[in-house]
Amino acid sequence: MTAPTSAPATARTRHFPDGFVWGAATAAFQIEGATTEDGRGTSIWDTQCTRPGAILDGSDGSRACDHYHRWESDLDLLVDLGLTAYRFSLAWPRIMPEGKGAPNEKGLAFYDRLVDGMLERGITPYATLYHWDLPQALEDKGGWRNRDTALRFADYAAVAHHRLGDRVKSWATLNEPWCSAFLGHASGEHAPGRTEPAEAVVASHHLLLGHGLAAQAIRGGRRPAQVGIVVNLYDVAPASDSPADLDAARRIDGQQNRWFLDPLLRGSYPADIVEDFSTYSDMAFVQDGDLETISTRLDWLGINYYSSFTVRGLDAPKPAVPGARPTAWIGTEDVELVANGLPRTHMGWDVVPSGLTRVLQRVSGDYDAPPIYITENGAAFEDVVVDGEVHDVERAAYIDAHLAACLDAVESGVDLRGYFVWSLLDNFEWAWGYERRFGVVRVEYETQERTVKRSARAYAAIAAENGWA
Ligand code: FCB
Repeated sequence: MTAPTSAPATARTRHFPDGFVWGAATAAFQIEGATTEDGRGTSIWDTQCTRPGAILDGSDGSRACDHYHRWESDLDLLVDLGLTAYRFSLAWPRIMPEGKGAPNEKGLAFYDRLVDGMLERGITPYATLYHWDLPQALEDKGGWRNRDTALRFADYAAVAHHRLGDRVKSWATLNEPWCSAFLGHASGEHAPGRTEPAEAVVASHHLLLGHGLAAQAIRGGRRPAQVGIVVNLYDVAPASDSPADLDAARRIDGQQNRWFLDPLLRGSYPADIVEDFSTYSDMAFVQDGDLETISTRLDWLGINYYSSFTVRGLDAPKPAVPGARPTAWIGTEDVELVANGLPRTHMGWDVVPSGLTRVLQRVSGDYDAPPIYITENGAAFEDVVVDGEVHDVERAAYIDAHLAACLDAVESGVDLRGYFVWSLLDNFEWAWGYERRFGVVRVEYETQERTVKRSARAYAAIAAENGWA
């Protein structure tokens, strides 16, 4: 059992600014199930789940939380918790089964019902267009390695916005392009499960290009929209101030954070990382005008924060471990993560609330950043059910401490507008299958029974007070 990370903030009276948004987040593939219903096409994650060894428990998303059929009672959970914002994603293969061409009416109709259901309940929809479920038909043509996918993404964005934009005002293009590019193409842990570093660099550019084109397509529609993107950021600290450790931190921070923040918010890739990547890529795929497109004005920036890293530079690359995945941070075999004794979640991720404050301060200090939302934050712990209840005090403490870290950032001048806990429900946690539980609501997968956990009640109490009374 991991100890709570800090004293509960409840001893203090502190409040978020008026109008702060309190929500919960999910993603289509992780909860919907019904992967062959109503004309949905196959996604790269359906395919990934068929690869031996790709998913820890050998599971897939075919049933997941059966949210496709249970969405009404799932939205009622938000009402029960007093949350008034819901971040969800649209499944591209439901709307365009082959990734392009005529939209699938039944797929669009599902999101119509879902959005109407939110509005009827007083819940504001925050839609994400791409949470990793690329139509397999596009992957078969090269996926994000193929520039054409960026154009197809913009078409899909326009269709989704045309249909839902009368009711959905907030749109995120991509969720965590680092994962799609580097986990998907360098380490192979995520779909499409490839292990070619050069491809990861190409994919990252086409993802960002797709973001920019989609943002422009949405703004080209007649309905006003607030367009953003969601990136996953970490505070990266060197283990010491030795040149090797400082350089290790520069490289990891560069690939993880600056590789996305710089093109989005400054219109250029970080020169030091372009140099680091030169062994793998000459960046010849960057065409004139791409960076202007990528740095199209953002109305908001979503940050997903889970953990932070302390890194050490080694004298020589670590010996390859037979059977182990290659690193997602390409060319960093001579960098290791330092275990510094912090409490960890069931994912093995260090619990570092102060890292969230530093990430927020860094983004708003180093960049001309738009208003920020924490679009995901949460933790997996090994829940136990006792007398039908889940007393997940560690998760409650994690959320409490990270909210306090958010407020520290706000009080230092960061324009943070809202927080979405990851996740509303236990769900399909990608390569970890159903073996990691992030929900503030438990899902009993056999029966699909939902149980509101103690962490949900604790979070709801903070949301109700807009802080700690
Ligand atoms: C993020 C993903 C989300 C979930 C959490 C734990 O990287 O966006 O879908 O898997 O991690």
